[in-house]
Amino acid sequence: DWSMSNFIDIEVEKIRATVGDKKVLCALSGGVDSSVVAALIHRAIGDQLTCMFVDHGLLRKGEADSVVETFSNQFHMNFIKIDARERFLNKLKGITDPEQKRKTIGNEFIYVFDDEAAKLNGIEFLAQGTIYADIIESGTATAKTIKSHHNVGGLPEDMDFKLIEPLTALFKDEVRAVGAELGLPEEIVRRQPFPGPGLGVRVLGEITEEKLEIVRDSDWILRDEIQKAGLDRSIWQYFTVLPNIRSVGVRSDERTYDYAIGIRAVNSTDGMTATWAKIPYDILEKISVRITTEVPRINRVLLDVTSKPPSTIEWE
Ligand code: XMP
Repeated sequence: DWSMSNFIDIEVEKIRATVGDKKVLCALSGGVDSSVVAALIHRAIGDQLTCMFVDHGLLRKGEADSVVETFSNQFHMNFIKIDARERFLNKLKGITDPEQKRKTIGNEFIYVFDDEAAKLNGIEFLAQGTIYADIIESGTATAKTIKSHHNVGGLPEDMDFKLIEPLTALFKDEVRAVGAELGLPEEIVRRQPFPGPGLGVRVLGEITEEKLEIVRDSDWILRDEIQKAGLDRSIWQYFTVLPNIRSVGVRSDERTYDYAIGIRAVNSTDGMTATWAKIPYDILEKISVRITTEVPRINRVLLDVTSKPPSTIEWE
């Protein structure tokens, strides 16, 4: 793509001129925006960039490994992985209120990042994956807060860094095109939207490792079947959610009292409004059978048939 490679050339020059021989830190979330920023800055300044990836334990199955594989093994970036899974689980213990959960995860992310960034020496710049839509959204001061959004790029303002934000002029599809041009893998460039608080808002009620495991495993099956059915490019976002309901079932003639899992699949252009995706019944049947056979503690599968509004896309 000519215009995207042109964009890359221009930004690479700008980044080099701004950074000189100084060092840059970038917080990687595994999402599209922060990944593209990391790849772009790496193209410009190579080893002067350090990427930090905080594993909060709230990512989908396989995602943390794929971040390590791409940035550490393939791109050979200076890459620091922080295993903060215990730390987040401990902080989240006993919290059931959705907004409190979101705030706890967002704040904890900042604390962890702060602690770890303080251990690094000589960093002058912080790179952020702010895109055009982020600027527009935060500019609408009158918009009511339905949910307190959290992005991994949202770091404290009193940090002692100068900011580099090379994507502020781009729309999402342009960000993806730049990422592809920079050689990022499909799974990152085409990644579905994913909330900053991650699976934390897909486990309703108190978050435990067992419940996270159930969401991860059922979500993995859903993604696999959607892909096998060739629907992964046509459905905008799809995932499973654990509504914290247990109900009675029967397995091998024995009574069970286990969890129900919800399937949420929507079509949207910007996430502001959405319609529920009509997954064919035979695909839903496969998904249901696989989830109830392969995921322990699930004896019922539910389908969310609500659009936004009146629902939101995520359940919390
Ligand atoms: P809702 O649930 O508000 O979600 O209808 C709209 C879209 O935004 C995603 N989402 C988030 N994205 N940080 C994000 O970057 C967040 O805190 C967050 N919460 C929800 C959601 O997955 C959907 O695509």
